[in-house]
Amino acid sequence: MFSQPVALVAAILSFSSLVAGRHTTAPVKFHRNFDSTCSSIASKLSIPNATVLLSELVSKGTNLTFSQDPLCVNPQLSPPSLVIPADVCRIVLTVQTSDRSGINMETWLPRNWTGRFMSTGNGGNGGCIQYADVTYGSALGFATVGTKYSGQGGMSGERFLNNSDVLKDFVFRGIHTGVVVGKDVTKTFYGSAHTKSYYIGCSTDGRQGLKSVQDFPEDFDGVMVGAAMNQWGNLIDSYSHIYNITGSPDAATFVPAEVWQNVISPDIMKKCDTIDKVKDGVIEDPNLCNYDPSGLICSSSGSGNNSSCITAEQAETVKRIFSPFFIGNKFIQSRFTPGAESTLPALSFLLAGDVFGLSADWFKYIVYSDPNLDVKTLGPADWLKNIELDPFNISTFSGDISAFRNRGGKLLAYHGQGDAIISPNNSVIYYNHVSDTLGLSRSQMDGFYRVFRVGGLNHCSQGPGAWNVGQGLFGDTTPGSDYLDPEKNILMATVRWVEEGTAPDTILGTKFINDTNSLGVKLSRRHCMYPFRNTYDGVGDSTKPESWSCQPVSDW
Ligand SMILES: *[C@@H]1O[C@H](CO)[C@@H](O)[C@H](O)[C@H]1NC(C)=O
Ligand SMILES: *[C@@H]1O[C@H](CO)[C@@H](O)[C@H](O)[C@H]1NC(C)=O
Ligand SMILES: *[C@@H]1O[C@H](CO)[C@@H](O)[C@H](O)[C@H]1NC(C)=O
Ligand SMILES: *[C@@H]1O[C@H](CO)[C@@H](O)[C@H](O)[C@H]1NC(C)=O
Ligand SMILES: *[C@@H]1O[C@H](CO)[C@@H](O)[C@H](O)[C@H]1NC(C)=O
Ligand SMILES: *[C@@H]1O[C@H](CO)[C@@H](O)[C@H](O)[C@H]1NC(C)=O
Ligand SMILES: *[C@@H]1O[C@H](CO)[C@@H](O)[C@H](O)[C@H]1NC(C)=O
Ligand SMILES: *[C@@H]1O[C@H](CO)[C@@H](O)[C@H](O)[C@H]1NC(C)=O
Ligand SMILES: *[C@@H]1O[C@H](CO)[C@@H](O)[C@H](O)[C@H]1NC(C)=O
Ligand SMILES: *[C@@H]1O[C@H](CO)[C@@H](O)[C@H](O)[C@H]1NC(C)=O
Repeated sequence: MFSQPVALVAAILSFSSLVAGRHTTAPVKFHRNFDSTCSSIASKLSIPNATVLLSELVSKGTNLTFSQDPLCVNPQLSPPSLVIPADVCRIVLTVQTSDRSGINMETWLPRNWTGRFMSTGNGGNGGCIQYADVTYGSALGFATVGTKYSGQGGMSGERFLNNSDVLKDFVFRGIHTGVVVGKDVTKTFYGSAHTKSYYIGCSTDGRQGLKSVQDFPEDFDGVMVGAAMNQWGNLIDSYSHIYNITGSPDAATFVPAEVWQNVISPDIMKKCDTIDKVKDGVIEDPNLCNYDPSGLICSSSGSGNNSSCITAEQAETVKRIFSPFFIGNKFIQSRFTPGAESTLPALSFLLAGDVFGLSADWFKYIVYSDPNLDVKTLGPADWLKNIELDPFNISTFSGDISAFRNRGGKLLAYHGQGDAIISPNNSVIYYNHVSDTLGLSRSQMDGFYRVFRVGGLNHCSQGPGAWNVGQGLFGDTTPGSDYLDPEKNILMATVRWVEEGTAPDTILGTKFINDTNSLGVKLSRRHCMYPFRNTYDGVGDSTKPESWSCQPVSDW
């Protein structure tokens, strides 16, 4: 996950009454000695390598300030402070994982506990606890953990340099350790073990969730992942490759942000917005948009820096960006998603004329262990080397998830169709890989693994469409009374699937006016599960879910 310049999610109101809401509720388990147990928990725990740094009661309404690495502060995921919506016992621990690595973790135990356990993950290079997710889970009645691996530096990859144990924590050991320890703390605290265990996360966190499904199938009963960054090496390569296409801002091939925003994006919308028969700024299915920028080439010699046209060299850049990335005959990564080119992550990270930091750090600190590496000169040999290296199997692309399936685990994935950072095709590729590996038909897959293609959602949050599906705290500023409705809340849909056996066929997304709940709903739309396509009926009000249906697609 990467920060986006939206207002800090300030008002997280009144979740507390919702824990006992109408839907998918578990009886709340009251703890007679909640307060005293919270203050004395350190003396009751005996967990190898773990040290309790703090245990404190945080009452509903407290404006809690987090002391954390300044580089971790991110308005949505790790804000500097949050108003806590429900009483929790907050326990901060460190756990040594090797003689040169360890994790910091927080376990937030709600007073109103549903018996459920949850782990959250880390974004980007992952050195931060995502307090927004921990707050979200605990406010909904889950005993919730957040884990970060040791070392300073926020999202920087520097701490991986010459320390494969820190890298190992990042790839899989950190989250797994946090889960094992977190479940232990939960059991000691409440005096009984959790009933069901869940995971939520998007992006790098999504990859971490899939890692658990693949290698630690006992950790979770329900895993909800967004825009999972598996095929990690391929994606890291693709960011380097995008730089190779655009060049630096002074190159003739470079396309300035204003030109993407003012010339190219409007042209893409002109050609692709109405493929779904609705002109609403949402390209419902970008797979249908085969964009050709040739029509924008200046008739006379322009500078490629004005509001009406682009040079032939820039058009070539645009074409290459929107083409799949191959090295020789080897498919590396899907094309960049048309419609996502003017989103903030695209313009500030990928198309800005420098190598995206996530990729630059990976090559410097892991692939070449050389902080002075000139990442602008990387090419095919380096990209192939990176994929080959795949430390600790960070690619997270094992198709055999039968152990998870056999124990009744449910995997619910979603992916924004306007995602600039990770192509929505990636979620489909992994789904098909699992289906091929296990030799399962679609209906067999439906029994434990579903992928929702969310039109009008960017990377994990925000977007022009009905992007709010309850994927996290940032997904809603002021939750309404139906916030826990599993029809609309993808986390609660996961819970319902695990606990009641009712699988979601669609997820009803909401777009609030100015993304503010209190201003009312701008549009709502049901998002379809792969391989169906959301299809407008051509006559009804397109902002209403009834006017759309999920149709089978023959052109996958
Ligand atoms: C716990 O739930 C009860 C009702 O089940 C509710 O009255 C109370 O406000 C909740 N407390 C907190 C701290 O959320
Ligand atoms: C919480 O405290 C921080 C700093 O202490 C402050 O900046 C923030 O505005 C406060 N939030 C609210 C909602 O009062
Ligand atoms: C405890 O830490 C040591 C190194 O300090 C490590 O070798 C061992 O695996 C750790 N044990 C657990 C249970 O994490
Ligand atoms: C990292 O290890 C490499 C050799 O593997 C060595 O050349 C380099 O000096 C080390 N860097 C640091 C900062 O320790
Ligand atoms: C892209 O790669 C090619 C071949 O490796 C190289 O010649 C070219 O200079 C690179 N472009 C940029 C902008 O670095
Ligand atoms: C943009 O370039 C076109 C083609 O070269 C030219 O006709 C037009 O005057 C330029 N517009 C501006 C604002 O520079
Ligand atoms: C485009 O124009 C802007 C100002 O209008 C300038 O800052 C920028 O450097 C120019 N870019 C190119 C590639 O000429
Ligand atoms: C999606 O991935 C497949 C490979 O599985 C590839 O052939 C196809 O071109 C990709 N689609 C897009 C839109 O990039
Ligand atoms: C990576 O996965 C493969 C196949 O599952 C396994 O054989 C190998 O040991 C794993 N490597 C590491 C470093 O975990
Ligand atoms: C939504 O935001 C826009 C731009 O900031 C503003 O002009 C408009 O009044 C807002 N709409 C409402 C209903 O507040």
